[in-house]
Amino acid sequence: MEQTIGIGLLGAGTVGGTLVRRLVGESSSIAAKTGLAFDVRRIGVRDATRPRDFEVGAGILTEDTQSVVTDPSVDIVVEVMGGLDPAGDLILTALRAGKPVISANKELIAARGPELISAAAEAGVPFLFEAAVGGGIPIIRPLSETLAGESIDRVLGIVNGTTNYILSQMDDEGAGYADALAEAQRLGFAEPDPTADVSGADAAAKAAILASLAFGTWVGSDDVYYEGITSIDADDIAFAAGFGYRIKLVAVCDRTDAGVNARVHPMLVPEDHPLAGIRGATNAVFIEGPAIDSLLFSGPGAGGDPTATAVLGDVIDAARETLAGAQVAPRIRFGNGHIVPFEEIPTEWYVRLVVDDQPGVLASIASEFGKAGVSIRQVWQEDVDDRASLIIVTHGSLESEQRTAIDSLKGIPEVHDVASVIRVLGPET
Ligand SMILES: NC(=O)c1ccc[n+]([C@@H]2O[C@H](COP(=O)([O-])OP(=O)(O)OC[C@H]3O[C@@H](n4cnc5c(N)ncnc54)[C@H](OP(=O)(O)O)[C@@H]3O)[C@@H](O)[C@H]2O)c1
Repeated sequence: MEQTIGIGLLGAGTVGGTLVRRLVGESSSIAAKTGLAFDVRRIGVRDATRPRDFEVGAGILTEDTQSVVTDPSVDIVVEVMGGLDPAGDLILTALRAGKPVISANKELIAARGPELISAAAEAGVPFLFEAAVGGGIPIIRPLSETLAGESIDRVLGIVNGTTNYILSQMDDEGAGYADALAEAQRLGFAEPDPTADVSGADAAAKAAILASLAFGTWVGSDDVYYEGITSIDADDIAFAAGFGYRIKLVAVCDRTDAGVNARVHPMLVPEDHPLAGIRGATNAVFIEGPAIDSLLFSGPGAGGDPTATAVLGDVIDAARETLAGAQVAPRIRFGNGHIVPFEEIPTEWYVRLVVDDQPGVLASIASEFGKAGVSIRQVWQEDVDDRASLIIVTHGSLESEQRTAIDSLKGIPEVHDVASVIRVLGPET
């Protein structure tokens, strides 16, 4: 016999609106597959008078979001409103009332994850967030359950579709950053205000969650160094392609004997690496561990339907737990591992300099790198009139040493511009 579960939504925009349509329109196929029937009983929104592209009964849409989490007919709460407030406190209220909560809110989880997970553990109910990273790609459950026994060393992710679309456009069409961004906005791949995406902040929240789940040490959003793609130049895309690399915005999460680290920045990725072939708005997560070697998860990282599929999977999972009636143990625990500051992480750099094309310049530059403890792996030169573009790829050195070398290059009179510095996914890092 089917069991009916009452659903309350916080938010009914791109993800929430799609979820409501799916819960209503696909109820028979969901029931046939799971034996579960869902009834949407309350939906909290900012403006209940706004036209919606789904139909629900009178009184279900409300601006009183508190009533969604306290309504006794709501068995499971789905938070798809986004932002830190009031989403965080509403989730805590729901969990403390013993209701399972599903959230797609990476920003909130990266900021308050341990508090929300502890509240769920104390109440013995699930708090699930499969949609928070990678949209429609199953990655949270594989990391926290399937791979719970693997000593994961590294997670690399292309976890922001907007920036991957822009960089792919620059690569495929030779477009400049501004044109590629405008095209992404025209096609709906970038928001009118793209700051959260192009600055790397969105990917940093996702990197925090990936690192925390992969390593079992809590890494919060404040622990993640990030840089965006706004200074990536069409020349760098072209030079990188010429040397066999693609430029990608990569979330890098590492575990070594010294501790764990998560960071987000543009990277030159060798074209034979699986992440180099991830094009357009697609997302991907590449996981390395001693027993599994490597795994690649890829697919649509955003969009109403893919994200609603991930949320729906969590809703079904939580409904099964609810009906089983058992206390639910948390799927993940966080230890007190050390977070290694980014300055102490070895990195390899691609540096593009505009220099006077005259004897001795390369020697002065090499000397500054040497003084900082950085050794050069490769150098290319391309002459432009009486100047030259000098491209240097370094061996692995501490991030702090690389930065010292770059600062000192700026003091050499023949160096007119440090046009770009981009880290490299190289053999030593
Ligand atoms: N969109 C994606 O592809 C995607 C992918 C993965 C994860 N996510 C995450 O999913 C969440 C929702 O994203 P979305 O794209 O669906 O957002 P959205 O389209 O902007 O929808 C947000 C919804 O929440 C409601 N809302 C926002 N603030 C509220 C407040 N203070 N009080 C009451 N209601 C409020 C809005 O009400 P009104 O409708 O009345 O304005 C709207 O219905 C975010 O955490 C996002 O990061 C989204």
